[in-house]
Amino acid sequence: MSTTPVKVAVTGAAGQIGYSLLFRIASGSLFGPDTPVELRLLEITPALKALEGVVMELDDCAFPTLAGVEIGDDPEKVFDGVNHALLVGARPRGPGMERGDLLEANGGIFAPQGAALNKVAADDVHVTITGNPANTNALIAMNNAPDIPDEQFSALTRLDHNRAISQLSSKLDVPVTDITKMTIWGNHSATQYPDLFHAEVGGKNAAETVGDQDWLENTFIPTVAKRGAAIIEARGASSAASAASATVDHARDWALGSPEGNWVSMSVCSDGSYGVPEGLISSFPVTVSDGKWEIVQGLEIDDFSRGRIDATVAELAEERDAVTKLGLIKG
Ligand code: NAD
Ligand code: LMR
Repeated sequence: MSTTPVKVAVTGAAGQIGYSLLFRIASGSLFGPDTPVELRLLEITPALKALEGVVMELDDCAFPTLAGVEIGDDPEKVFDGVNHALLVGARPRGPGMERGDLLEANGGIFAPQGAALNKVAADDVHVTITGNPANTNALIAMNNAPDIPDEQFSALTRLDHNRAISQLSSKLDVPVTDITKMTIWGNHSATQYPDLFHAEVGGKNAAETVGDQDWLENTFIPTVAKRGAAIIEARGASSAASAASATVDHARDWALGSPEGNWVSMSVCSDGSYGVPEGLISSFPVTVSDGKWEIVQGLEIDDFSRGRIDATVAELAEERDAVTKLGLIKG
């Protein structure tokens, strides 16, 4: 085992996602069995007592990879020297709400946390935002951390990516491992575009293999895009274990690299690729190596995909304008 622990901050650590996520990270699911991790857990003051209970449970697991745990309510202390920051802490939506309805309630969390990371995180910090609305919260954190390169911020669309793989696997009755090159474009919201035109099943084009545009348009896309709402409706609470699992997948691939011959979906700062305005945090197909993502280039975008991408990107631009008006980012 290497001796220097990787310092991983998790915010909202006493929440539902935290309750799954911490145990996955501590047990080695993120960096593997040979890399010790030190957890830095941030909560609001009233939740610190509950968090102490979660830490007792972490202790009781006696994980060989868990090198230490610190908790607190001051982001400048908790984020000190962190290499990875998983910003989960934010209010979840309830039934009948869209994720964008959380902008006003949650946006304010991410400006001070971005500023704190800017001040005290390690130079190589990788910041992942899971708390909703994830893309625009990432935009806020990034804009409040001028010394951290924009490429070191991302938002989670891996849950949507995994949902899309699972839906396609059920439709075609193939193992999930047969499905590659899935892409989620745009926002982690109901406007997102899960793209089967570039995905592959056993190396063959997924849309052609499905051969059913009606299913693609009227079942697949809405099922993936509205899955979060369906879970809230059924569970009475938003997805937690699957969100934690996707957060681990996202952070692991960002740290250790995406699979050879495949790509993953990550929401990252647009460089203008595929007509997405520069500076928006939008989901793209990306490959990762040496801790750095690159947007997959050269995919042909037909009129159907163009319309879908434009619609979800327009929503991201509206959210950016809204948080600019709220004073959370500079215009
Ligand atoms: P939860 O209410 O169970 O937990 C949230 C926790 O965050 C609470 O313990 C709360 O005390 C804490 N918190 C609030 N403000 C904080 C702050 N300023 N600093 C630190 N902690 C703070 O919610 P949850 O189910 O764990 O979900 C968390 C967020 O993740 C929600 O916004 C939810 O919508 C979002 N989410 C995103 C995805 C995705 O795919 N991007 C998936 C599922 C959930
Ligand atoms: C999800 O996709 O499950 C989360 O973003 C929670 C939600 O509000 O849908």
